[in-house]
Amino acid sequence: MAEKWVLMVTAQTPTNIAVIKYWGKRDENLILPINDSISVTLDPQHLCTTTSVAVSPAFTHDRMWLNGKEISLSGGRYQNCLRELRARASDVEDEEKGIKIAKKDWEKLHVHIASYNNFPTAAGLASSAAGFACLVFSLAKLMNVKEDHSKLSAIARQGSGSACRSLYGGFVKWIMGKEENGSDSIAVQLADEKHWGDLVIIIAVVCSRQKETSSTSGMRETVETSMLIEHRAKEVVPRRIIQMEEAIKDHDFPSFSRLACSDSNQFHAVCLDTSPPIFYMNDTSHRIISCIEKWNRFEGTPQVAYTFDAGPNAVLIAHNRNAAKLLLQRLLFYFPPQSDTDLSSYVIGDKSILEDAGVHNMKDIEALAAPPEVKDNTPAQKYKGDVSYFICTRPGKGPVLLNDETKELLNAETGLPN
Ligand code: DP6
Repeated sequence: MAEKWVLMVTAQTPTNIAVIKYWGKRDENLILPINDSISVTLDPQHLCTTTSVAVSPAFTHDRMWLNGKEISLSGGRYQNCLRELRARASDVEDEEKGIKIAKKDWEKLHVHIASYNNFPTAAGLASSAAGFACLVFSLAKLMNVKEDHSKLSAIARQGSGSACRSLYGGFVKWIMGKEENGSDSIAVQLADEKHWGDLVIIIAVVCSRQKETSSTSGMRETVETSMLIEHRAKEVVPRRIIQMEEAIKDHDFPSFSRLACSDSNQFHAVCLDTSPPIFYMNDTSHRIISCIEKWNRFEGTPQVAYTFDAGPNAVLIAHNRNAAKLLLQRLLFYFPPQSDTDLSSYVIGDKSILEDAGVHNMKDIEALAAPPEVKDNTPAQKYKGDVSYFICTRPGKGPVLLNDETKELLNAETGLPN
């Protein structure tokens, strides 16, 4: 094969937020969890990874670039994904370009991978989930892997556990499985993104100074040292999974909210029960929880659910647009931006919620009244500058192929980053 052709595929994959958390592995190498988990896929318009993958006889080794910077593919997780995909590759033919790749050629051919997140990686917003899901999805297309999304999810799982849930839109369950080889530890879709279209999601990206413990080492330490984690995995989560599936099926927001909040709190409780203890939430996270709890109690029925992953950022799921509007007013009241911040970079994503909230400029934020649930108390305290920005989004669709050449991250002739 002396030809110099480059064959490329580009795809986009969403990130996801767990409402029943995955925390703890029974197999570190295959990434097999100790309990099932359930997530909501976030709208890729606001949070997603785009990945271009290319193959060419001219490539001398597998290479990858993340957000423009070359990174090593030597880690076991990348190697496991690449091996699993190559083993399932099929014949590929592109008549237009005169390219023919036989199944056996994939063992010798090398790939280039370029990946880009449309949100700051440093913000701690599950970039590995969207990243590995996109890598597996796009390579599977390039290599003509004839497997359904569930089988692909089992490959993405070996890159990062939570990545298996990003193979679908809407509401997704990762079934822990029983097999030792992990073949039944797969993600399945519970309902698509249109099933509960009323939900609105607001993410508070919280300012933090400390470097957090990675999920991988955090959950290992929890499994090794916490006595509570076994009770959680064996007794609590199995019941919650059944209840959460029911709540999603029935659009039962009060149950959905109670389960999501309790499960987030229990996940952070097992982190605290780890030795040495792991703190992912900070004072701002705790203030956001108090604000939501107080409001939900005042209304008599939950308006908003909160959930926090391995970091201080709050993911807030509002029952509908009206609840989202009232939520955003509260958030902007308690956490106004620094005076030098401009509003258009403080609330990003679906800005129509900001319109609904009647907030058009900084003056409107200053004019926001204290929410009724605090009126009788002493004047509410404000925490200017404790939130970096808010992202308004919604449940979203699963991975898609992009046919738009302008979205390609690799050069069609050289196979190097654009
Ligand atoms: C708190 O999937 O990042 O977000 O499997 O080791 O890569 P690895 O961990 P990762 O853990 C995610 C943990 C979580 C909860 C969740 O997404 O379910």
